Amino acid sequence: MRNLSVVISGLLLPTGCLYVMNKAQPWSETIAANPLRVERGAYLVERVAACFNCHPSANNAKMSRYFGRTREIPGKIYAPNISADPETGIGNWTDGQLSRAIREGVDNNDEALFPIMPYGSYSAISDEDVRSIIVYLRSLPAWQTRVPERQIAFPMSLLINLLPQPVKGPLNAPDRRDLIKDGGYIAAVAGCVTCHTPLNWRGPDTSHSYAGGWKFVLADEKAEVISPNITADPQFGIGSWTDGQLKYALQSGRRPDGKLLRAPMPWQSYAGMTEADMVSLLAFLRTIPPLRPATGSM
Ligand code: HEC
Ligand code: HEC
Repeated sequence: MRNLSVVISGLLLPTGCLYVMNKAQPWSETIAANPLRVERGAYLVERVAACFNCHPSANNAKMSRYFGRTREIPGKIYAPNISADPETGIGNWTDGQLSRAIREGVDNNDEALFPIMPYGSYSAISDEDVRSIIVYLRSLPAWQTRVPERQIAFPMSLLINLLPQPVKGPLNAPDRRDLIKDGGYIAAVAGCVTCHTPLNWRGPDTSHSYAGGWKFVLADEKAEVISPNITADPQFGIGSWTDGQLKYALQSGRRPDGKLLRAPMPWQSYAGMTEADMVSLLAFLRTIPPLRPATGSM
């Protein structure tokens, strides 16, 4: 049945008929590479945004986390190769196309990306940080990984075209002295909200931001992992955790009860965040208002 609906949606909605609402032209800027940008980009990609937690990497070129096969996502979505390989990666994309994909969720064929790519959250990334991310990606040796075509069933295949929003620049990172704003920025670059917000048939359920409930089917298809509620709710969320427990979970992958946090929670990346960023992140997380889980999720 499910396969049938994928096939039918494919027939009724060939990709040419889909178009993205609110699509902006890509930046015309060509980004200059320099060592500072490579260094900042390496930190953001490897330690904060954890791009290779989903995308195939040099060390793990076969790994593409795929999402789907759940009630909410009848289909399969693969994280593609974002190395500079011209055939299977982004080697032929312009810098503007890349920054638009990252912050606005529109690919080089003008198609909307599925919102597990955290572009809703990445839309806050500053102009300078997106430059650094792109410079770092292009500085890596290319690898060849071709992922299968995505399949998204109707109606989501159509509705995702409503999600991309143009970035209204110029965008700067907030003042670092404001811990909560700084932490909010780090959380946005980390995409916490994307994984910790439930998805319904129209996309992210923003009335339940951070309330958890996204079901991930792990690649071996043997296990399902549901993202937990990370709001300040003492019963459903992490309101009763101490700062120390929260920091320990983010850096060592252990919950207060000793259970290890499984993929796709990228704590191994966060373990390498700077102390200053971790302090701000914790300050921000504490300000997320308590919310109960969405009915139907969990
Ligand atoms: C939580 C998983 C996840 C994370 C983290 C993530 N991505 Fe993605 N990304 C995806 C998925 C899945 C797609 C494909 C979506 C689709 O096919 O509709 C994608 C698509 C893309 C694309 C479009 C590629 C193409 O060939 O169409 C680019 C570029 C991209 N991501 C860059 C990045 C960068 C840079 C980062 C880190 C700053 C990042 N992504 C972090 C899951 C992720
Ligand atoms: C790619 C998806 C993804 C991203 C990005 C992500 N998480 Fe998670 N997170 C998960 C999943 C899934 C779990 C549950 C793991 C398990 O049950 O083993 C989890 C677990 C947690 C937990 C443990 C909560 C509990 O009750 O057990 C905390 C705290 C947490 N995440 C905070 C964060 C923060 C803060 C960020 C951003 C800095 C973040 N997560 C980014 C998917 C993600």
